[in-house]
Amino acid sequence: MLHTSYIEINKNALNNNIQNIREKAGEGVRYSMVIKANAYGHGIETILPLIEECGVDHYSVFSVAEAMRAFEVKKESCDIMIMGFIDDEYLEWVIEKEISFFVFTLYRLRKVVEVAKKINKPARIHIELETGLHRTGFTQDLLEEVVSVVKKESKHLRIEGICSHLAGAETIVNYTRIVEQIVTFGNLCDWFKSEGIEPTYRHLACSAGVLNYPDSIFDMVRVGISNYGFWPSNESKMMHLKNKEFSEDPLERVLSWKSMILSLNTVPEGNYVSYGQSYLTNRKSRIATVPVGYGYGFSRTLSNNGHVLVDGRRVPVVGNVNMNMVVIDVTDADHINIGDEVVLIGEQNGRTISVNSFSDMNNSMNYELLTRLPEHIPRKVIG
Ligand SMILES: Cc1ncc(COP(=O)(O)O)c(C=O)c1O
Repeated sequence: MLHTSYIEINKNALNNNIQNIREKAGEGVRYSMVIKANAYGHGIETILPLIEECGVDHYSVFSVAEAMRAFEVKKESCDIMIMGFIDDEYLEWVIEKEISFFVFTLYRLRKVVEVAKKINKPARIHIELETGLHRTGFTQDLLEEVVSVVKKESKHLRIEGICSHLAGAETIVNYTRIVEQIVTFGNLCDWFKSEGIEPTYRHLACSAGVLNYPDSIFDMVRVGISNYGFWPSNESKMMHLKNKEFSEDPLERVLSWKSMILSLNTVPEGNYVSYGQSYLTNRKSRIATVPVGYGYGFSRTLSNNGHVLVDGRRVPVVGNVNMNMVVIDVTDADHINIGDEVVLIGEQNGRTISVNSFSDMNNSMNYELLTRLPEHIPRKVIG
């Protein structure tokens, strides 16, 4: 093994998730898979050919840099949509490559027209509306101006979409806010229609929208986390299992993260392990090191807190997580050797360390833990 750990991507699990969520979104709804943040840590270049095999032909990214990576590996017939950052100097590349993108400021709208005119190619835009998230999106006082630019420059603009984003549909406390957003979005789309502007797609729903708010599904959905096998929250999972929409969990984890035993030592009772004095052996202990630390996305908050799987059992992390190494207590494991597989996330002999349990321990969300997995860890496809 050249690298100290690797990430396995299970393509059967990915296919299972995509087909299940796609079915929920409904026939005739364009399915955009969100692959921003390095495909939620799974690796853009690894995931993209696999999702194409699953029949997905539309990818949502956040930035031009991500769009460029997707562009390199995608089939020609597949679409890329940028939902966030485009610096002016890259607008020409984006328009030239027929990549569609969100427009949420008048500055960008005017700039887009300028560049589209210059290269004599229409820009494919999605007008993002503010409906309650208060992040990006045109506020209602700007819409007359937006419409006037769009009408005047219709030769240079293709209105591919009108869109907005939900403000936390995975959490029940946001219910009223989400329902208001759905209504506002529908009304605003109707207003655009009355102004003669009808996009190819109206889109609002993310994973939690598709799973929990069917009314948020318009002509297209932008689904991220659930494709990778994670519920947007435990609440959304519970709602589904309670409503018996699925007899069992329809989502399967796509990603596993594995390393190996680097060294083994015996430490007498009453000695501190790893930096500082956070862990003191209370018996003669077998201590192993694993070459993965916070520099590889194994959070320091898992010090004396996390677990890994080795020899088919769950063993604790002891002492502080280092930059490149973590120490585990294997006293109770019988057959451990240098080089044995260590599972940081995933399954071994029927036992599991899920990202969920991992991130509960770590007090962070699935989203955060996944997207923190460094790009330099090699990804291997299995299944
Ligand atoms: C604009 C936008 N659309 C869709 C998504 C996908 O959300 P999820 O991963 O919850 O499906 C995100 C994710 O943050 C987003 O920012």
